[in-house]
Amino acid sequence: MEINKADFCNTELFADVLKNTPFSPPLLHLPYCEDTDVLAREKNIKGKTAHNRICYQPMEGQDADENGNPTDLTFERYERLAKGGAGILWFEAVSVLPEGRSNAHQLMINENNLDKYKKLVESVKEKSLKENGYAPIFVLQLNHSGRYSKPCGVPSPIVGMRNSFFDKPDLCYTLASDEYLKRLPEVFAENAYLCEKAGFDGVDIKCCHGYLYSELLSAYDREGVYGTSFENRTRLLCDTFRACKSALSNDTVLACRLNIYDGYNTPYSFGTDSNDYTKYDLDEPKKLIEILVSLGLDLLNVTMGSPYVNPDVSRPYKAGIDMPKTNALSALSRLFEGACEIHKAFPKLPVVNTGVSGLCAKAHLAAAGMINDDMTDFVGFGRMNFAYPDLAKDILSNKFDAKQACVACSGCSTLKKNGLLSGCIIRNKLYRDIYKEFTSK
Ligand SMILES: Cc1cc2nc3c(=O)[nH]c(=O)nc-3n(C[C@H](O)[C@H](O)[C@H](O)COP(=O)(O)O)c2cc1C
Repeated sequence: MEINKADFCNTELFADVLKNTPFSPPLLHLPYCEDTDVLAREKNIKGKTAHNRICYQPMEGQDADENGNPTDLTFERYERLAKGGAGILWFEAVSVLPEGRSNAHQLMINENNLDKYKKLVESVKEKSLKENGYAPIFVLQLNHSGRYSKPCGVPSPIVGMRNSFFDKPDLCYTLASDEYLKRLPEVFAENAYLCEKAGFDGVDIKCCHGYLYSELLSAYDREGVYGTSFENRTRLLCDTFRACKSALSNDTVLACRLNIYDGYNTPYSFGTDSNDYTKYDLDEPKKLIEILVSLGLDLLNVTMGSPYVNPDVSRPYKAGIDMPKTNALSALSRLFEGACEIHKAFPKLPVVNTGVSGLCAKAHLAAAGMINDDMTDFVGFGRMNFAYPDLAKDILSNKFDAKQACVACSGCSTLKKNGLLSGCIIRNKLYRDIYKEFTSK
């Protein structure tokens, strides 16, 4: 069943959107199902049981200490999430190298702090078992921030390609050399091995949102072995898969969060027609996924766009707040349909989709619709997990509370962008106060 116009108008979000947006059903299929029990279906990922179809997406909290160690705040955040009852808990981006940190408080894992990560995994496992009788599948995301590296709090971009559309005149860009890139698969593999030792069930090689690996996918104008052809542009990711696969035991889930569509409206945009970069086209992403599956991909998290370039594509939010390029509903529809197309093309590969927090107080019904209509294996909740950590548990016990839902204001993103501790500025006093102080300056 599709949400109809009347349903939309019943909510504040959709009423706002519809004021300015011609409703165009052919473009817009938003799934909807009132029977949220469908989300309680178990699903097996490489011999591990996900107890339901809800995935808490990776959300950087920027609360590590300067050496990348998890702090008390990190522990509290993940313990809250673990108690929330999701089937998969996807830990945020952890930087594989100091120079690739997205901010001065991004997590990093190494031999010296491995025990702290072991403690973190033990603690979240214990909390979830005690609260729900099961633990989520714990996946940790590894990343190099590339163009968006800010290891000391100021931009220090390391780019896959100089890009006249994105490069800013006042910034000094370091082009990652072939030698630098060639070392990365081993660096990722070392980090992945540490994650496995810490007790994580899975490791994600992040290749989305414009960070280094994602940028290379559209490095059509890079010279050498990492640019121009499809084989070259995907070389780093594939080599990293091979290295991680051989570093990990057979039990560990090898995952990838992948941009299937950048939507930058520039010639350097992955997931677009090779003759017309304004056109959405999943041929190359599908070709890449097929290769990744052959290299051992066990779990795919599908996403789009970049929070730095086109947040309206990657994390649709309430219309009226900074929505210049597209509208929230068609962006949501594209995110859901994109993941669905991948899910249909690779029915044996467990897929997580993205963007559902944009539906705010209706998100649980859309999530149930996506599982009911077989559009994805798991529904991913990002901002919603900051706002409403108990979401999964509440949906599964039919106690969803609209008053705790994300309002898609993206205040959490404003905190992140400004290097502050990030969390929900509406539902959590700690982050609300930080936001208030920041905006009052
Ligand atoms: C504050 C903040 C932190 C984020 N951190 C990460 C991250 O560590 N890794 C990642 O892949 N995506 C990250 N994202 C993107 C989310 O995982 C998600 O894709 C996005 O918010 C859209 O989904 P939603 O509508 O459910 O929020 C972050 C987003 C926000 C707003």
